Amino acid sequence: MGLYGRSVEPITRDLWAKQDQHEGDRWRLFAAIGEVIGATRVLYPGSFVDLAPSFVWPSVTYVDSDRRAKRFYDDVDGVGEIIAEHDPVTSEPEAVFIAADYTTDLGLEDESFDLLISLYAGFVSEHCTRYLRVGGTLLVNPSHGDVGMASIDKSYELSGVVTSRTGTYRVHQDNLDSYLEPKKPVELSTDLLHKSGRGVPYTKPAFAYLFTRVR
Ligand SMILES: C[S@@+](CC[C@H](N)C(=O)[O-])C[C@H]1O[C@@H](n2cnc3c(N)ncnc32)[C@H](O)[C@@H]1O
Repeated sequence: MGLYGRSVEPITRDLWAKQDQHEGDRWRLFAAIGEVIGATRVLYPGSFVDLAPSFVWPSVTYVDSDRRAKRFYDDVDGVGEIIAEHDPVTSEPEAVFIAADYTTDLGLEDESFDLLISLYAGFVSEHCTRYLRVGGTLLVNPSHGDVGMASIDKSYELSGVVTSRTGTYRVHQDNLDSYLEPKKPVELSTDLLHKSGRGVPYTKPAFAYLFTRVR
Protein backbone atom coordinates (compact mmCIF):
# COMPACT_ATOMS: atom_id res chain seq x y z
CA MET A 1 0.00 0.00 0.00
CA GLY A 2 1.21 3.49 -0.76
CA LEU A 3 0.99 6.71 1.22
CA TYR A 4 -2.58 7.38 0.21
CA GLY A 5 -3.74 3.81 0.67
CA ARG A 6 -3.38 2.93 -2.98
CA SER A 7 -1.12 0.23 -4.33
CA VAL A 8 1.11 0.35 -7.38
CA GLU A 9 1.43 -2.76 -9.55
CA PRO A 10 5.08 -3.87 -9.94
CA ILE A 11 4.96 -3.41 -13.74
CA THR A 12 3.74 0.17 -13.28
CA ARG A 13 6.51 0.91 -10.77
CA ASP A 14 9.05 -0.67 -13.12
CA LEU A 15 7.93 1.30 -16.18
CA TRP A 16 7.99 4.52 -14.17
CA ALA A 17 11.47 3.75 -12.77
CA LYS A 18 12.80 3.34 -16.31
CA GLN A 19 11.04 6.48 -17.51
CA ASP A 20 12.37 8.42 -14.52
CA GLN A 21 15.92 7.06 -14.67
CA HIS A 22 17.28 10.63 -14.62
CA GLU A 23 15.35 11.16 -11.46
CA GLY A 24 13.10 14.20 -11.50
CA ASP A 25 14.42 15.44 -14.85
CA ARG A 26 11.05 15.77 -16.58
CA TRP A 27 9.46 17.08 -13.39
CA ARG A 28 12.03 19.92 -13.39
CA LEU A 29 11.38 20.59 -17.08
CA PHE A 30 7.60 20.80 -16.70
CA ALA A 31 7.86 22.76 -13.43
CA ALA A 32 9.99 25.41 -15.19
CA ILE A 33 7.38 25.69 -17.91
CA GLY A 34 4.52 25.73 -15.41
CA GLU A 35 6.09 28.80 -13.81
CA VAL A 36 5.73 30.87 -16.97
CA ILE A 37 2.56 29.62 -18.64
CA GLY A 38 -0.85 29.28 -17.10
CA ALA A 39 -2.42 25.97 -18.13
CA THR A 40 -5.14 23.74 -16.77
CA ARG A 41 -5.82 21.23 -19.53
CA VAL A 42 -2.80 19.55 -21.10
CA LEU A 43 -2.62 17.14 -24.05
CA TYR A 44 0.43 14.87 -24.44
CA PRO A 45 0.34 12.73 -27.62
CA GLY A 46 3.14 10.15 -27.76
CA SER A 47 3.56 10.36 -24.00
CA PHE A 48 4.52 6.73 -23.41
CA VAL A 49 4.67 6.60 -19.57
CA ASP A 50 5.97 10.12 -18.98
CA LEU A 51 3.62 10.98 -16.14
CA ALA A 52 5.51 14.07 -14.99
CA PRO A 53 3.06 16.65 -16.46
CA SER A 54 0.55 15.43 -13.85
CA PHE A 55 2.91 16.62 -11.09
CA VAL A 56 2.50 20.17 -12.43
CA TRP A 57 -0.89 20.50 -14.15
CA PRO A 58 -4.30 19.45 -12.83
CA SER A 59 -5.71 17.77 -15.95
CA VAL A 60 -3.57 15.86 -18.42
CA THR A 61 -4.71 13.68 -21.32
CA TYR A 62 -2.05 11.19 -22.43
CA VAL A 63 -2.17 9.48 -25.84
CA ASP A 64 -0.05 6.59 -27.04
CA SER A 65 -0.39 3.56 -29.29
CA ASP A 66 2.10 1.42 -27.36
CA ARG A 67 0.49 -1.42 -25.38
CA ARG A 68 2.86 -0.91 -22.46
CA ALA A 69 1.57 2.64 -22.07
CA LYS A 70 -2.00 1.33 -21.94
CA ARG A 71 -1.00 -1.22 -19.33
CA PHE A 72 0.65 1.53 -17.29
CA TYR A 73 -2.30 3.96 -17.32
CA ASP A 74 -4.79 1.11 -16.80
CA ASP A 75 -3.30 0.83 -13.30
CA VAL A 76 -5.35 3.84 -12.23
CA ASP A 77 -4.57 3.44 -8.52
CA GLY A 78 -0.86 2.97 -9.20
CA VAL A 79 -0.69 6.00 -11.47
CA GLY A 80 -2.63 8.01 -8.87
CA GLU A 81 -0.18 6.91 -6.20
CA ILE A 82 2.88 7.91 -8.26
CA ILE A 83 1.32 11.32 -8.90
CA ALA A 84 0.49 11.69 -5.20
CA GLU A 85 4.15 11.01 -4.33
CA HIS A 86 5.16 14.10 -6.34
CA ASP A 87 3.38 16.89 -4.55
CA PRO A 88 0.80 17.56 -7.29
CA VAL A 89 -0.93 20.93 -7.66
CA THR A 90 -4.35 19.56 -6.75
CA SER A 91 -5.45 16.75 -4.47
CA GLU A 92 -7.48 15.11 -7.27
CA PRO A 93 -5.45 15.48 -10.47
CA GLU A 94 -7.08 14.12 -13.60
CA ALA A 95 -4.85 11.81 -15.67
CA VAL A 96 -6.71 10.38 -18.65
CA PHE A 97 -5.19 7.96 -21.15
CA ILE A 98 -6.32 7.40 -24.73
CA ALA A 99 -4.92 4.31 -26.42
CA ALA A 100 -4.74 5.55 -29.99
CA ASP A 101 -2.67 6.66 -32.93
CA TYR A 102 -2.57 10.43 -32.54
CA THR A 103 -2.77 10.91 -36.33
CA THR A 104 -6.37 9.67 -36.14
CA ASP A 105 -9.37 11.51 -34.70
CA LEU A 106 -8.96 11.32 -30.92
CA GLY A 107 -12.59 12.17 -30.20
CA LEU A 108 -11.52 15.26 -28.26
CA GLU A 109 -13.08 18.67 -28.59
CA ASP A 110 -11.20 21.06 -30.86
CA GLU A 111 -9.43 23.98 -29.15
CA SER A 112 -10.06 22.54 -25.70
CA PHE A 113 -6.47 22.32 -24.37
CA ASP A 114 -4.16 25.03 -23.00
CA LEU A 115 -0.90 23.18 -23.58
CA LEU A 116 0.16 20.62 -26.20
CA ILE A 117 3.32 18.62 -25.49
CA SER A 118 5.45 17.20 -28.31
CA LEU A 119 8.58 15.42 -27.07
CA TYR A 120 10.40 12.75 -29.12
CA ALA A 121 7.17 11.48 -30.68
CA GLY A 122 7.07 12.65 -34.30
CA PHE A 123 4.94 15.34 -35.87
CA VAL A 124 2.51 15.86 -33.01
CA SER A 125 1.88 19.51 -33.93
CA GLU A 126 0.83 18.56 -37.44
CA HIS A 127 -1.95 16.29 -36.22
CA CYS A 128 -2.96 17.69 -32.84
CA THR A 129 -2.85 21.49 -33.09
CA ARG A 130 -6.59 21.38 -33.70
CA TYR A 131 -7.09 20.43 -30.03
CA LEU A 132 -5.05 23.40 -28.74
CA ARG A 133 -6.95 26.63 -28.09
CA VAL A 134 -5.88 29.82 -29.84
CA GLY A 135 -3.60 31.52 -27.30
CA GLY A 136 -2.50 28.13 -25.97
CA THR A 137 1.09 26.85 -25.99
CA LEU A 138 2.94 24.12 -27.84
CA LEU A 139 5.98 22.73 -26.00
CA VAL A 140 8.15 20.96 -28.55
CA ASN A 141 11.68 19.63 -28.76
CA PRO A 142 13.66 19.44 -31.98
CA SER A 143 14.65 15.78 -32.17
CA HIS A 144 11.93 14.48 -34.51
CA GLY A 145 11.53 17.59 -36.66
CA ASP A 146 8.41 18.92 -34.98
CA VAL A 147 10.09 22.25 -34.14
CA GLY A 148 10.72 22.73 -37.87
CA MET A 149 7.10 21.81 -38.54
CA ALA A 150 5.81 24.35 -36.01
CA SER A 151 8.20 27.00 -37.33
CA ILE A 152 6.58 26.87 -40.79
CA ASP A 153 3.02 26.54 -39.47
CA LYS A 154 1.22 29.88 -39.66
CA SER A 155 -0.86 28.87 -36.64
CA TYR A 156 2.22 29.38 -34.47
CA GLU A 157 4.58 32.09 -33.27
CA LEU A 158 7.71 31.36 -31.24
CA SER A 159 7.07 32.62 -27.70
CA GLY A 160 9.87 31.06 -25.67
CA VAL A 161 12.87 28.78 -25.59
CA VAL A 162 13.87 26.31 -22.92
CA THR A 163 17.56 25.93 -22.12
CA SER A 164 19.05 23.14 -20.09
CA ARG A 165 22.20 23.28 -18.01
CA THR A 166 23.31 20.54 -15.64
CA GLY A 167 19.76 19.35 -15.12
CA THR A 168 18.29 22.82 -14.59
CA TYR A 169 15.78 24.16 -17.07
CA ARG A 170 15.16 27.83 -17.76
CA VAL A 171 12.54 29.42 -19.97
CA HIS A 172 13.53 32.56 -21.88
CA GLN A 173 10.87 34.71 -23.49
CA ASP A 174 12.92 37.73 -24.65
CA ASN A 175 15.33 38.22 -27.55
CA LEU A 176 13.98 35.23 -29.47
CA ASP A 177 14.98 36.58 -32.92
CA SER A 178 18.30 34.76 -32.87
CA TYR A 179 16.61 31.34 -32.52
CA LEU A 180 15.34 29.08 -35.34
CA GLU A 181 18.09 30.26 -37.73
CA PRO A 182 19.17 27.15 -39.71
CA LYS A 183 22.93 26.60 -39.82
CA LYS A 184 22.79 26.04 -43.57
CA PRO A 185 20.36 27.74 -45.95
CA VAL A 186 17.37 25.47 -46.38
CA GLU A 187 13.84 25.84 -47.74
CA LEU A 188 11.90 24.13 -44.95
CA SER A 189 8.74 22.40 -46.10
CA THR A 190 6.37 19.77 -44.77
CA ASP A 191 7.65 17.34 -47.44
CA LEU A 192 11.27 17.87 -46.52
CA LEU A 193 10.54 17.35 -42.83
CA HIS A 194 8.48 14.22 -43.50
CA LYS A 195 11.28 12.79 -45.63
CA SER A 196 14.05 13.45 -43.12
CA GLY A 197 11.97 12.76 -39.98
CA ARG A 198 14.27 15.04 -38.05
CA GLY A 199 14.88 18.70 -37.57
CA VAL A 200 17.44 21.06 -39.05
CA PRO A 201 20.45 22.20 -37.01
CA TYR A 202 20.14 25.78 -35.78
CA THR A 203 22.92 28.33 -35.19
CA LYS A 204 21.65 28.84 -31.64
CA PRO A 205 20.05 25.61 -30.47
CA ALA A 206 17.76 25.24 -27.48
CA PHE A 207 16.59 22.19 -25.57
CA ALA A 208 12.96 22.91 -26.44
CA TYR A 209 10.74 25.65 -27.76
CA LEU A 210 7.42 27.22 -26.83
CA PHE A 211 5.10 28.35 -29.60
CA THR A 212 1.85 30.22 -29.05
CA ARG A 213 -1.07 29.27 -31.22
CA VAL A 214 -2.05 32.57 -32.84
CA ARG A 215 -4.86 31.40 -35.13
C1 LIG B 1 10.54 7.95 -27.87
S1 LIG B 1 9.00 7.76 -27.09
C2 LIG B 1 8.88 9.30 -26.21
C3 LIG B 1 7.97 9.20 -25.05
C4 LIG B 1 7.79 10.51 -24.27
N1 LIG B 1 7.24 11.55 -25.10
C5 LIG B 1 9.08 10.97 -23.68
O1 LIG B 1 9.61 12.01 -24.14
O2 LIG B 1 9.57 10.33 -22.75
C6 LIG B 1 7.83 7.98 -28.41
C7 LIG B 1 6.43 7.53 -28.06
O3 LIG B 1 5.55 8.07 -29.05
C8 LIG B 1 4.59 7.10 -29.37
N2 LIG B 1 4.09 7.41 -30.70
C9 LIG B 1 4.80 7.68 -31.82
N3 LIG B 1 3.98 7.91 -32.87
C10 LIG B 1 2.71 7.78 -32.37
C11 LIG B 1 1.43 7.91 -32.95
N4 LIG B 1 1.26 8.23 -34.24
N5 LIG B 1 0.34 7.73 -32.16
C12 LIG B 1 0.48 7.42 -30.84
N6 LIG B 1 1.68 7.28 -30.24
C13 LIG B 1 2.78 7.45 -31.00
C14 LIG B 1 5.34 5.77 -29.29
O4 LIG B 1 4.44 4.70 -29.09
C15 LIG B 1 6.24 6.03 -28.10
O5 LIG B 1 5.65 5.59 -26.91
